[in-house]
Amino acid sequence: FKVPTPVNEPVKTYIPGSPERIELQNTLRTLKSQQVDIPMYIGSEEVRTNNKKQLSPPHEHQHILGHFHEGDASHVQQAIEAALAARQRWANMPWQSRAAIFLKAADLLAGPYRARLNAATMLGQSKNVYQAEIDSACELIDFLRFNAAFMTEIYAQQPESSPGVWNRLEHRPLEGFVFALTPFNFTAIAGNLPAAPALMGNVVVWKPAYTQIYSAQLIMQLFKEAGLPDGVINLIYVDGPVAGDVIFKHPDFAGIHFTGSTAVFQHIWKSIGENIQTYKGYPRIVGETGGKDFIVAHPSANAKALAVAISRGAFEYQGQKCSAASRAYIPANLWDEVKQFVTEDLQSFKMGSTEDFGNFINAVIDEKSFDKLAKYIDAAKNDPDVEIITGGTYDKSEGYFIQPTVLKVKDPRYVTMCEELFGPLFTVYVYEPDQFEEILEIVDTTSPYALTGSIFSQDRYAIDLATQKLLHAAGNFYINDKPTGAVVGQQPFGGSRASGTNDKAGSVFNLIRWTSTRTIKETF
Ligand code: NAD
Ligand code: ALA
Repeated sequence: FKVPTPVNEPVKTYIPGSPERIELQNTLRTLKSQQVDIPMYIGSEEVRTNNKKQLSPPHEHQHILGHFHEGDASHVQQAIEAALAARQRWANMPWQSRAAIFLKAADLLAGPYRARLNAATMLGQSKNVYQAEIDSACELIDFLRFNAAFMTEIYAQQPESSPGVWNRLEHRPLEGFVFALTPFNFTAIAGNLPAAPALMGNVVVWKPAYTQIYSAQLIMQLFKEAGLPDGVINLIYVDGPVAGDVIFKHPDFAGIHFTGSTAVFQHIWKSIGENIQTYKGYPRIVGETGGKDFIVAHPSANAKALAVAISRGAFEYQGQKCSAASRAYIPANLWDEVKQFVTEDLQSFKMGSTEDFGNFINAVIDEKSFDKLAKYIDAAKNDPDVEIITGGTYDKSEGYFIQPTVLKVKDPRYVTMCEELFGPLFTVYVYEPDQFEEILEIVDTTSPYALTGSIFSQDRYAIDLATQKLLHAAGNFYINDKPTGAVVGQQPFGGSRASGTNDKAGSVFNLIRWTSTRTIKETF
């Protein structure tokens, strides 16, 4: 058995009349006509409780998609026990068999599961068809296929031996269980966070964000159908702090694979620190967290390319990508052209339900997010130093809709230039063209984050200068492109500073965190 050399899953177009469009529309209709009952998956059991919670599309909060069964601390404990019970057999399974399971899951997702998982992401998380396709289909398939290939690279790494001495490395799973704690905004990330440690022979307790459960349960079904043994990944729906309280006090806690906000990750890190003497070893802490992603333009930049990068890079998926641009620094000589294009482009975007494929903008994820964004928009409206270039309206009567909004500020350290807002709210600061070097300093020091960022310039000196000065300002740095859309196997993804441990999801760097290597020297 040899893991095939992976290639990126082609993105389907969903053009009118195409078979994939017809299948997806039928699947959306079917899902909308049903109410699913979603259990937790612990060991071999589908666990139901008396505490059922409703799931609705963010763009149509009166509609009921189904209910999930919320668990409590006892279910966290059961999930840990189920994971530990499965541990030895899973760790002893040949790595080729583990790879075969996840490669089969990739094939099932490329085939019969594709429409269902895309439809679930469109309904449950309000992603439009194109955003769902690149996330829940292509990116998750790529994670599964590329990680299987990266695993073989890790296992192939062996030291030199010499006559009479045989040296070897044994890449063991961690001694305990891994906790996968996943966010709402990428179905692919939610699937990869439990799958990557499991592929490396670990057992996992997986807790998704409540707003992603509708697609999470389908991923669990996919893994099971691909042959994943019971107990290797256990999916629970338990309030975050309640789950954390059990997990981080458990002696067999061996690592966390987290994606979510910086505040939650910092809280988790402290809990782990407080309990450090409880554990058998030092837990692996891998976290991808918040961002305040930037676009900075040099006076030589191509205004049209810059404007396209803003409207796509800031507003795809309503600005709820961790990588989404949320602040820009534009030289005065380009501003009028950029402003005109961005305004026209954004005003042409249709907003509404994901079931109408013509809608580019859909709803933000929930009421909490909607209310937070509305507050920032209102504050901007009442601030004489802030100009609303376009947008500025919102409405939650049917769904959590916020019009794509661009602010122009006089102070480059205005609050919306610094804080992660996670929505369709973008802020621009226009600078005098001779201030380019000072602007780079401001870009670097305005926010604590360092996830993604872009420089637009046709001047090589300026590109090199920005690349050097912004050395630590972004884990994924783009030259003349929008700062979103990293592809597995091409642009390994992750940030540093307050944006995470930068272990690059979907890469050898990430997978290596899920092994604890033993070195063996044998003399003969
Ligand atoms: P979140 O931090 O609110 O939640 C993430 C997970 O943590 C969820 O499962 C949640 O239920 C759980 N959680 C919340 N509070 C907890 C607590 N006190 N103890 C234990 N668990 C807890 O994040 P979100 O809103 O789901 O996702 C958006 C965030 O994720 C943004 O900040 C975004 O930048 C970040 N993100 C980062 C990347 C990246 O690669 N850097 C990718 C995607 C999302
Ligand atoms: N892969 C996603 C992006 O880069 C996170 O937008």
